[in-house]
Amino acid sequence: MRIEPKNAALGATIHDIDLSQPLDESRFRAIEQALGRYGVLSFPSQTWTTAQQRAFAQRFGQLEINVANTSQDNEFPDVMILSNMVEKGRPLGLNDAGQDWHTDMSYSRTIAFSNVLYGIRIPMRDGQPLGNTEFCNMHAAYTDLPQALKDELDGMTITHDFNKFWEKMRSQPGSRRAPLTEEQRRRKPPVSHPVFLRHPITGRKVLYANPGYSVRINELPEARSEEVLAFLFEHQLQDKYRYQHRWTEGDVLMWDNMGTIHNAVADYRPDEPRYIRRCQVMADRYFPELY
Ligand code: SIN
Repeated sequence: MRIEPKNAALGATIHDIDLSQPLDESRFRAIEQALGRYGVLSFPSQTWTTAQQRAFAQRFGQLEINVANTSQDNEFPDVMILSNMVEKGRPLGLNDAGQDWHTDMSYSRTIAFSNVLYGIRIPMRDGQPLGNTEFCNMHAAYTDLPQALKDELDGMTITHDFNKFWEKMRSQPGSRRAPLTEEQRRRKPPVSHPVFLRHPITGRKVLYANPGYSVRINELPEARSEEVLAFLFEHQLQDKYRYQHRWTEGDVLMWDNMGTIHNAVADYRPDEPRYIRRCQVMADRYFPELY
């Protein structure tokens, strides 16, 4: 297995590994370390069944069944389909997943460790891939914060709410999303997490805020909370922290949800098919070390 860094804010390509084969302990550890260090890992030219994808992802933690309960794989409810494809009038997957900056599952008591995506159909136009996935580096975003703000926010917490992002996506023209039911809201109530987390792999602090789900810095007066959140959202999206994964069919893409935030670029049309299988790995293995 060979790790090729992207020479960018984030990202590495992992060569010479067949992910359809069971992962031995030394490779598992090497991938885990690389994920902490580079934030986003791509494994090109993979061939995966859904069961093989689940087996790989489950090495890193439990898989989450999304509370919205839409767009699940027919056989495995903990596998989600991201797709704009429609067959016989039936959507094959969620067609607008992640189309703004966010961190998966910051709205959950047990947060996400990683996402494991497998690119099966990638839209292309004029020889270029569409629907790329962008990331920002939250280790670097923390490091660069003004010291006075680090001191002010140290020990404070942020409330994250699943409904914030859901409603934002619902307000987009043509959205197929229904409002969350009372039951769905009850199962995912807003939760609080520290503004700064100590990353369980790197041991370094990261900024754990994101425009998608973060709604309030709990220990600050409301006006100051809004001012600081607006600053953090702008700060964390600077170009110097960004990396964009350009998809190729057969790519496995895995990212660290504590050390990055991400955005699925919505630059393709309904007649340009995209089909990606997604597993959401929770941080249950790492959680005790987080706080
Ligand atoms: C997501 O998990 O946020 C979606 C990523 C993508 O479709 O590129």
